[in-house]
Amino acid sequence: MCQLVTASAYLGSSDTAHALLEAFCLAMAMHPDKQKKAPEELNAVIGPHRLPDFSDRDALPYTRAILKEEMRWHIIAPIRFIHLTMDDDKYNGYFLPARTILNTNIWLVQLREGYPDRESFRLERLLEDGPPSDPADYVFGFGPRLCPGRHFSIASSFITFTSVLRIFDIQPPPTSIWDPNQHGKEAIRTSSKPYLAKLIGLRPALGCNLKMSRQFPNELFDAIISCVPTGHTGWLWPKERETLLNCTLVCRDWLPVSRHTLFSYVHLKRPTAWDSFLRSVVNAEEGRPWLASILRLQVEDGWYSHYEGDKKIPAKPVSEWRGQYVIPVLAGHLPNLELLSLSVDWDRCQPHATTFGMFSQFTSLRELRLDSCRFPSFCTFRRILVSLPALKTLRCSAVHWPSAPQPSILAIPSGHLALQSLGISLLCDSFHDLSLQCGPVDFHPITLPHRTLDYYVQIFAPSVQVAAFGNIQSMHDIANTISDLSRFGNLRSLDFAVNGTDWGDAADLLQSLPARLDTLIIFVDYGRELVDRDMMVKEDGEVKAMKTNGLELLEPVLLRDNFKALHHLEFKPWGYRDTLEPLEESIIQTIWRKLPKLHSRTTLNIRLAPVYINRSPPPSRRPSPSPAVEIISGGFIP
Ligand code: HEM
Repeated sequence: MCQLVTASAYLGSSDTAHALLEAFCLAMAMHPDKQKKAPEELNAVIGPHRLPDFSDRDALPYTRAILKEEMRWHIIAPIRFIHLTMDDDKYNGYFLPARTILNTNIWLVQLREGYPDRESFRLERLLEDGPPSDPADYVFGFGPRLCPGRHFSIASSFITFTSVLRIFDIQPPPTSIWDPNQHGKEAIRTSSKPYLAKLIGLRPALGCNLKMSRQFPNELFDAIISCVPTGHTGWLWPKERETLLNCTLVCRDWLPVSRHTLFSYVHLKRPTAWDSFLRSVVNAEEGRPWLASILRLQVEDGWYSHYEGDKKIPAKPVSEWRGQYVIPVLAGHLPNLELLSLSVDWDRCQPHATTFGMFSQFTSLRELRLDSCRFPSFCTFRRILVSLPALKTLRCSAVHWPSAPQPSILAIPSGHLALQSLGISLLCDSFHDLSLQCGPVDFHPITLPHRTLDYYVQIFAPSVQVAAFGNIQSMHDIANTISDLSRFGNLRSLDFAVNGTDWGDAADLLQSLPARLDTLIIFVDYGRELVDRDMMVKEDGEVKAMKTNGLELLEPVLLRDNFKALHHLEFKPWGYRDTLEPLEESIIQTIWRKLPKLHSRTTLNIRLAPVYINRSPPPSRRPSPSPAVEIISGGFIP
């Protein structure tokens, strides 16, 4: 129903509004003497500093007359839609049997309504003579199928036409392409005429001192525009880009702040994007000042193959990689950069010898995201981290270096690295398949032994307050991978993945944590591997429950003193929709039954946020069967 209503409104309004505006421009170009008086009236009524609004309507009789006469002079739909008589009828001595097709000619109605000289555009007939009838009474049709968009159309054309008359002087194009008589006749059709665009010129007398909506100071518009891209992620979405670009078109005054906001996030996805960025911003005098506006920069080299939806995007050949230039070219030129997100294979793209040292010139960088990056050695990775003076957050996903470092180089001089947030997830680009793989499919084999990841994590541990370890090479080997959290003395929030049967390892891991956590998020894998290993109780082929769980092992650990301040405990069960959905309730019951003491803690919020491995969105939430466990909408992985 909603779709049909919207479609009718769209179909009914798009062509008509367009045709009406065209005809209006035509009438104004043909009658400059009539046009001239409208801005005078507008200026007298609304003053020099704003555009008209609906409250001005009654005070603008001349401008309203233009609108009405225009609708009459150029009837947009002179022949209504065809109709059918339902019963036998009579009209003017004619007999009309039922189911006769009728077509009314609105243009001829004017004959009956007694409009003298009806082909002329004469405002006098409305202003002085007193009209025989209001054109709005018949140009929209009549009877039960009368145009439902008439009020909308009258209102929107009033605002459009008065705003145009306020700002623009509509002039005819050069006489070589303009024959008012011929075009006047053509205007009877509702066709699009490109030449009409040429009629419009800025009204010189008003244009220079008229600013859009002067009621508000420009600073307010600046503030509004700079809010456009602040989604929770802070990245610009395509729609927001469009909005900002439109802002620059609407008002010249808004150009600087819109550009500044557009440049706040630069995403270079392809070699061509990098090349044009280089040409029109970095190496262009007029573009260079915008480098200071860049707060977030994301560069993807395309060196690895990946999926966009179902489509596999193959890796680009080395000759097309640009990532090796990013740091040498931009170091020292992005004074306000806060977030740098890179996907570069420095192991193969032959970066300049000084590249890694140059990271120190990004003095404002607070967050570094490395997604699918390959370093020539762990040393280079370590060198980058140490040289970034303001770095607070590090996120690594599928970061590689060819061999495990010697323990001697692991020590980082104290004070050089003060990370507060650390996210590490090392797994394959085949995530979208959601099969659990112990190694990446399209990557070169990772030579990093599981055990050594633990070493690396320990390097960053002391200052970190927020840590997320997800998808670590082998889900069920988490304890072998990150075996010990004893160096995380400042941790406040921990997020890690566990296999649905490995609660013992998870409990051991938490046991080693000295910090006082306030947030604990556990990503529980009920993925294919678990199903394959037959850990589910099935009836008639349908999954009904989990065979073993071990969740109760968490309770004694979480009752320890250093978890007393815990106020948020979230379980994120992760699995195929067909198995996870029926399991949801049994997961809640398991949490309810196996963690009774935790439930009695009123200060603790226990939540379940399922993540479905499916190509359809998550179902609408049912109320939780247990009052102690709040179910929140989880996500789904397409
Ligand atoms: C200058 C602007 C417009 C003119 C001159 C106009 C004119 C008309 C006319 C003559 C009809 C046929 C009425 C009949 O057969 O009795 C009609 C029908 C219709 N118009 Fe408009 N229209 C305009 C704008 C709009 C707008 C803005 C909308 C929607 C928002 C709209 C939606 C419709 C619809 C849905 C119908 C079909 C009604 C039905 O069959 O029941 N029109 N219009």
